[in-house]
Amino acid sequence: MTMSRSRIYPLYTHAQIHERVLELGAQIAKEYEGKDLVVIGLLNGVYQFFSDLTRNTDLDFDVTFMQVASYGGGTESTGEVKILHDLDRSIRGRHALIVEDIVDTGLTLNKVRKLLLDRDPASLKICSLLDKPSRRRVQVPVDYVGFTIEDHFVVGYGLDLDGKYRNLPYVGIYNPA
Ligand code: IMP
Ligand code: MG
Repeated sequence: MTMSRSRIYPLYTHAQIHERVLELGAQIAKEYEGKDLVVIGLLNGVYQFFSDLTRNTDLDFDVTFMQVASYGGGTESTGEVKILHDLDRSIRGRHALIVEDIVDTGLTLNKVRKLLLDRDPASLKICSLLDKPSRRRVQVPVDYVGFTIEDHFVVGYGLDLDGKYRNLPYVGIYNPA
């Protein structure tokens, strides 16, 4: 398959994303003020969003990461989540906030959420830059959503197609047609 940036149609500019990130950061800072918060980034797709969001959340909190992968190739999640890198600290009795790039079928977050709930956090919430609710196969509560989108395959601002386009500063629809 030939991959080309000419097949990417801009959906959200960097400026639009930044504006939304500021709103989410303000909301999170307000909600968790005075609480012991651990913000957990789900690598790899979240790296741009995570960096911008945490920088614009005016609060003191712990920052850590998990790296998970869904078994199976292509653009479909299988729900078989493999933990490539687990948390390096305890979340017991603490407020945990998972930050993700996109919720699609919900299978990945559903697994991660159950895994982390077993570790007895004081609370567990989810923040995702993008949400594709029309594709959901399992219900998972997404507490903070940057943008709700239609059923498009999107790339950029951390999101990839076969490992490419993560470094684009904007989110675009990949149209292979
Ligand atoms: P889920 O388990 O189906 O919710 O899949 C979530 C994961 O699939 C995300 O963390 C992304 O890595 C990937 N994903 C889902 N939709 C897209 C997309 O439109 N572009 C890039 N990656 C996606
Ligand atoms: Mg991901």
